[in-house]
Amino acid sequence: GKAEPLKVIISGAPASGKGTQCELITQKYGLVHIAAGDLLRAEVAAASENGKLAKEYMEKGELVPNEIVVMMVKERLLQPDSQQRGWLLDGYPRSSSQAAALEDYGIRPDVFILLDVSEDILVERVVGRRLDPLTGKIYHLKYSPPENDEIASRLTQRFDDTEEKVKLRLRTHHQNVDAVLSVYKDITVKVNGNEAKEHVFAQIDAALTHVGEQRKVNSGSL
Ligand code: AP5
Repeated sequence: GKAEPLKVIISGAPASGKGTQCELITQKYGLVHIAAGDLLRAEVAAASENGKLAKEYMEKGELVPNEIVVMMVKERLLQPDSQQRGWLLDGYPRSSSQAAALEDYGIRPDVFILLDVSEDILVERVVGRRLDPLTGKIYHLKYSPPENDEIASRLTQRFDDTEEKVKLRLRTHHQNVDAVLSVYKDITVKVNGNEAKEHVFAQIDAALTHVGEQRKVNSGSL
């Protein structure tokens, strides 16, 4: 039979390059990118009740309560496009209870990619990050500068991208990371995320190609 679509979780500290790698992965693999942070920022921008509450936590660099996050991610995962094309889940789960919620719904990834980046590099990436509100593309003033002046003039900065706030986000990350890693230990691929983005992607690409081939073998189509 035909192999099922790929299901991927990508994780790593704040500014480790998850969003950047997700752009490259979706380009090649056509997976549906589901980013918990993006879903939350859309609620904040819409000024919904959930968005107003979420923003209080995001400004402190803390996890937004499960009542808001879990259903939001689950509903996106179960939509027809995610089921048909496969999915790439970014920034979720961030705690053992969020991982348990996925397991309860029978949602399990094929591979868990962990971006490993040293702390001094993370801070530099956060403070230089800029976003194009028109295309959603992620830039960095030094490492991924905008292509032209028109784009440069419209770039924005995230409200939680200050050196002070990233320290809070890092603390939250350290408090929760081990509990999440233990759930996916058997399917984790650790990637060196300190290198240039093309080199990081080459490592991820190799891992996903390998997983895809394994699945074809297992489903009997090879
Ligand atoms: P979220 O939006 O998920 O933020 P994050 O985890 O802090 O990650 P970032 O988006 O900051 O970074 P990234 O890893 O995507 O890096 P990027 O590719 O942009 O979460 C925000 C908040 O929402 C949380 O603090 C929390 O409050 C809440 N939240 C989210 N999920 C939640 C959940 N499940 N439960 C509860 N609350 C939740 O790269 C960063 C910069 O570096 C860019 O400028 C980029 O151009 C540059 N760069 C990337 N790769 C490279 C490279 N290889 N070399 C040089 N520069 C690079």
